[in-house]
Amino acid sequence: MNSPSQSLFTLTQGAGGLPKLTLFAPDGARAEIYLHGAQITSWVPAGGAERFFMSRNSQFSSDTPIRGGIPVIFPQFGTTGPLAQHGFARLMEWEFMSAQAIATRASAVFSLRDTEDSRRLWDYPFAAELTVLLGDNQLAVTLAITNIGPKPMTFTSALHTYFAVADLAATTVENLAGIQYRDAAAGWTDHQQTQPALGFMGEVNRIYFNAPAELCLSEPTRTTLIRSEGFADTVIWNPSATKCPTMPDLEPTDYQRFVCVEAAAIGNPIELAPGERWQGTQTLLA
Ligand code: BG6
Repeated sequence: MNSPSQSLFTLTQGAGGLPKLTLFAPDGARAEIYLHGAQITSWVPAGGAERFFMSRNSQFSSDTPIRGGIPVIFPQFGTTGPLAQHGFARLMEWEFMSAQAIATRASAVFSLRDTEDSRRLWDYPFAAELTVLLGDNQLAVTLAITNIGPKPMTFTSALHTYFAVADLAATTVENLAGIQYRDAAAGWTDHQQTQPALGFMGEVNRIYFNAPAELCLSEPTRTTLIRSEGFADTVIWNPSATKCPTMPDLEPTDYQRFVCVEAAAIGNPIELAPGERWQGTQTLLA
């Protein structure tokens, strides 16, 4: 338990000198969020252990994405459009707006607006807001996007969560039976999942379309429930022993230390008329 005098948050210099907010829930839970990308890099539920993977080789510089935690993917998932992979929101400096304690929980809000640079890449004025709600063994992350420009806009998006796992071979994602998926690791072919559980014996890079609102990350010593609202799809990714060594901000064996389960809107891109707002939430229950 935090003492009543313990602060709700601190704003300090994190790795690479980048500004980092640490949020403390009244129940003792803690999360760290870099303003670079509004990227959550740590989640420790009250009395528990770190739930997120963070690469020791992550760059922490203003022009590269942070590797681990929850990268915010907007306005383009992957290479599905003209922008660089996964869009630009994870590369931009977000603004910390507010934090408050609500009973046993704490929340913090971050905001991002289009800039001259973003409009050069993608000519749409937007207001993005990321709300982090922490406490009661949960972390709920909500991304809201408002079209503040004069023309309709379309985007894809994801909360690209890196879960730390202790034993990859014994880890599964459950509740997938019957779901259609596109397999990027098998030439972008389309399939239907027959088994309820997906294991990680090799490269996994799948977009599950219209995925269940609740999935379960099952490990020998713990489970994490993963709920999503507003994001129709789920991406599951692990680069395996083959691809991991080709990624400079990961150590060659890091694939053994994480599984990404991403709440995503890809199959049906989000379309917003001028003034319209969309939001999606990923809630993790330890
Ligand atoms: C996943 C994609 O969401 O993100 C993978 O499905 C990609 O294809 C991975 O390799 C990591 O992307 P990045 O840009 O962070 O290296």
